Amino acid sequence: MFPKLNLLSFAACVACAAIHAVKADLAIYTDGALAQGWENWSWSSDINFAATDEYSGSSGSSISVNSGAYAALSVKLEGTFPSYAGLRFDIAGAQPDISILIQSTGDNDQSATIPLSAISKTVVDGTFSSLLIDFNNLPGTGSQLGTDTWDRLTLQAGGNGAIYHIDNIVLVDEIVITPEVLSAEPLADHYVAVTTQGAVDISDISVLLNGKAIKVVNSTTYNPVDTPSKTITYLQLASTFSQGNLTVSSVSGNATFTTVLPAVQYGSIVQQVSTPINPHIYGVNFPTSASYIQHLGVTISRWGGNAVTAYNPFGGFTNAGNDWYFENRVIDNGQADDWMGWVGAAGSDNLLTVPALDWVSKDSTSYSYPKEIYPDQQKFEPYNNDAGNGLFPNGSYITPVPDPTNVYTPWNTSLAKTWLKGLKNKPLMVAIDNELEIASNTHQDMHPQPMGYDEELARVIAFGTAAKEALPGVLVAAPSTCSWWYYWTSQIGYSDNAAHYNIDFLPWFLAQMQAHDNSTGKRLLDYLDIHYYFQPDTSANDATAKALRLRMTRSLWDTSYVDESWAGSNPQNHQWNPTAISLIPRFKTLIQINYPGTKLSISEWSSTADTDLTGGLLTVDVLGLYGKYGVDSATYWATPDELGPVGLAYWLFRGYGTYFASATAQVNLATPLPDTQGVYAGTQNGKLSLVIVNKNPDTPISFYLANVPTGTYFARHFGGQAGVAKWQTTLSLKINTYLVVPAYTALFLQQK
Ligand SMILES: *[C@@H]1O[C@H](CO)[C@@H](O)[C@H](O)[C@H]1NC(C)=O
Ligand SMILES: *[C@@H]1O[C@H](CO)[C@@H](O)[C@H](O)[C@H]1NC(C)=O
Ligand SMILES: *[C@@H]1O[C@H](CO)[C@@H](O)[C@H](O)[C@H]1NC(C)=O
Ligand SMILES: *[C@@H]1O[C@H](CO)[C@@H](O)[C@H](O)[C@H]1NC(C)=O
Ligand SMILES: *[C@@H]1O[C@H](CO)[C@@H](O)[C@H](O)[C@H]1NC(C)=O
Ligand SMILES: *[C@@H]1O[C@H](CO)[C@@H](O)[C@H](O)[C@H]1NC(C)=O
Ligand SMILES: *[C@@H]1O[C@H](CO)[C@@H](O)[C@H](O)[C@H]1NC(C)=O
Repeated sequence: MFPKLNLLSFAACVACAAIHAVKADLAIYTDGALAQGWENWSWSSDINFAATDEYSGSSGSSISVNSGAYAALSVKLEGTFPSYAGLRFDIAGAQPDISILIQSTGDNDQSATIPLSAISKTVVDGTFSSLLIDFNNLPGTGSQLGTDTWDRLTLQAGGNGAIYHIDNIVLVDEIVITPEVLSAEPLADHYVAVTTQGAVDISDISVLLNGKAIKVVNSTTYNPVDTPSKTITYLQLASTFSQGNLTVSSVSGNATFTTVLPAVQYGSIVQQVSTPINPHIYGVNFPTSASYIQHLGVTISRWGGNAVTAYNPFGGFTNAGNDWYFENRVIDNGQADDWMGWVGAAGSDNLLTVPALDWVSKDSTSYSYPKEIYPDQQKFEPYNNDAGNGLFPNGSYITPVPDPTNVYTPWNTSLAKTWLKGLKNKPLMVAIDNELEIASNTHQDMHPQPMGYDEELARVIAFGTAAKEALPGVLVAAPSTCSWWYYWTSQIGYSDNAAHYNIDFLPWFLAQMQAHDNSTGKRLLDYLDIHYYFQPDTSANDATAKALRLRMTRSLWDTSYVDESWAGSNPQNHQWNPTAISLIPRFKTLIQINYPGTKLSISEWSSTADTDLTGGLLTVDVLGLYGKYGVDSATYWATPDELGPVGLAYWLFRGYGTYFASATAQVNLATPLPDTQGVYAGTQNGKLSLVIVNKNPDTPISFYLANVPTGTYFARHFGGQAGVAKWQTTLSLKINTYLVVPAYTALFLQQK
C-alpha cells in the first residue's frame, strides 16, 4: 500500500479559507460606464462604454471594442487591487485574439500573458461566455499572480486586431475550487502521472492494462513551487507497460482516463559516437533577473534588437525607430555596462551589440517626425499625438528626410572604442549592430538609403576592428542578418548581387572576411551571426497550424524538407537545393567553403507561439537540434516568459543547474518520424541524458531503446494533459524495452 494523501492538511487549509474575512468584490464595469475610480487607458481602439447592440444578462449595455494591431482596451484604477482571488467577465465575439495582462504601473510589474484561448476556445459572437481567471492558477501557465501594487487591466489584441463585446468585469474576492483529478498519463516504463486540483483522495485510484488490474506499489506527490494550485502524484506500478489499453480510474475523483499504449518503436543509443555541445546554445535576449538566469539555466544573454542600434551609452538613451514612432527614450534595462554586470554575476555570458550606423540618440524625448513639421502622416502615437510614424497616408516614406541632428548625435568608431574601453564589465562577444541590412526601414529617419553589400561589410570591418582594439580577446559576431531573404541579397536588390559576381550575400560576406583577415593576419570575424525566423504561417494556431509549427523544425537540418512557405516555392537564392532551408548543415558548408573555422551563431529565433504549449514543444525540439547539429551560440528572441511554455523548455534542458549534456550521443531510430517526435541523447558527467518530445496531440509514443541502462533517473516533463508546470521526480527504469512519452509532452531523463 502507498501512503494516503494527507487529508488533514487540506482540511486545515479549508478552515483557514473559511475564517479569512470576506471582502467585497470590486466592480470594474457593470453597465454604461466604468465603475467609480477606473480610468480609460486604452490605445488605438474604437471603444464604446455604453454599447447597446449586445450585452450580457439584463445589464442593458456592454463595452464594444475594436482594437487595431497590438492595440488594447486598458483600464486603470486610481488606487490598487493587491490581492483579489480572480477576475470574472462576460465576453462575446468570434474568438477574438486578445491577451490579458494585470499590471502595476507603479513598478512596471506585470502578470504572465494570459491568452483568451487559454481560458476558452469557444467564445462566439452574439452570445456572452462567462469566464473566470483564477489568480492562483493563471490560465496558460498555472502560475500565481501574487500580491503586488496591481492597478491596471489590459486586454491587448494580436497582430490582426480584435473585435468583441465585454461586460460585467469584476475582481472577485473568493473562488471555490472543485476537487478534481485533472489527468492520469503513463510515463516511462511503469509510472502513472496523476494531476489534481483541490483536496482529492488519490488512494482509491485503480489501474487496468488490457483489462487486468495492476497494483500501485508506491506514490510520490509534488506541488511545483510556481504552480501551487496543482499537484502531481507519480504512481509506481507493480509491472511494466506493454502495448494495449490502459485505464486509470479514481473513485472519489469520479474520473476515468484511458490511453492506448502504442506499438513500440525500435532504436539504439550509442554514447561512443559523440560531439561536444556548445553550452552557448541555451541563450536568451534580455533575461529579466538573476533568478531568471538561474532558474532557466541561461548561458548567454544578448543585449540586442532594433532599439539598440541608436543606443547612446554616454547618455543612456536610445531611439525606437520604426517599432515605435521613431521616438527617443531612456534605454530599457539600464545602461549596458550595469546590465552586463548583474547578468554576469548571475552566471551568464554576454553578447553585447555595438551600434554601427552614423548616429545615436541625443536625448530621451525627441522624435523624428513631429506633426508641426510633417502634418500629413498615416498615424500618430496614441500617447503623444505629435509623434508620427514617418509615413504619408498612402504608406510611402515621408520626404524630405528629417535632419538627423533633431534627434541624434554623431556616432563613429572612436566613440565606440571610448565606450568599450571604459566598460567595467566586459562582454564575451560583441555583435556589430543588428539587422543592418534593413536599416533603411527600421531606421529610415537616419539611414534612408538602402544598405548594400559593400556598406554593410565596411561597417562590420570598421566597428569590429574598433571592438577588438578596445577589448582584446572579445569575440566578434556579424552581420546578424534578419531572415532567409536577406541571407542572399540586399535591400538594394538583385542589382547588388549582380554587382558582386552574382554571389549571394552571406557567402560573399564570409569570403570577404576571409580575405580581410588574410590581409591583416588575424581573425576579425569569430561568428557568422544570423537571425532565423521560421517562414511558414502558423498564425491560425489551429490543429493544422500547430502540426505545421511542430514539423517545421525540420528546416533546421533536413536536406529533404522543402520549406512549407514562400521559401519552398520561390528560390530567390543561387544556392544548391535552394528550397530546402536545411539551415545548420547549409551554413556549416558555406562556412567550410568560404571561411573555415568561423563559428555559427543564431542570435534571434523564436517559437512562433510563446504562450501556446506547441511553442514550448517546438523550443525543446530546437534546443535538441542545436546541440545535435553543432550550433555554437543561440539566443531566443524575445525574452521567454519564465513560467510559460518556452521558459519551461529551457528549464527542462538546464533548470537550476541540472544540465542536459556536455556532449551528444548518437540516436538511431528505425522510425525517425521527425514530423511528430524528436529524440535527443547526450552525456553529462558520464551519465546518460535523454530528451524526448512527442509532437502528437493525442497519442503517446513508446520506444525500445537499446543501450539505455536500467536504474534510477531524474525526470522532468511538461505538457500533455499534465499541462504547463515544472513536473519533476526521481524514477527507476526497470526495462528499456517499453518507454512511454505521453501526447504533446517533453520528457527529460538523466541517469542518477
Ligand atoms: C477610451 O480610449 C479609447 C482609445 O484611446 C478611445 O477611442 C475612447 O474614445 C476612450 N473612451 C472614453 C469614454 O474616453
Ligand atoms: C516510495 O517512493 C519514495 C519516494 O520515491 C521512496 O523514498 C520510498 O522508498 C518508496 N517506497 C517503496 C516501498 O518503494
Ligand atoms: C483496446 O481497446 C480497443 C477499443 O476499445 C479495442 O479495439 C482493442 O482490441 C483493445 N486492445 C487490447 C490489446 O485489448
Ligand atoms: C460523476 O461524473 C459524471 C459525469 O461527469 C456525472 O454525471 C456524475 O454526476 C458524477 N457523479 C458524482 C457522484 O459526482
Ligand atoms: C504618397 O503620397 C505622397 C505625398 O502626398 C506623394 O508625394 C507620393 O507620390 C505618394 N506615393 C505614391 C506611391 O502614391
Ligand atoms: C568621431 O567623432 C568625434 C566627436 O565628434 C570626433 O572627435 C572624432 O574625430 C570622430 N572619429 C572618427 C574616426 O571620425
Ligand atoms: C586566405 O588564406 C588561406 C590560408 O592561407 C588560403 O587558403 C585562402 O585561399 C586565402 N583566402 C583568401 C580569400 O585570400
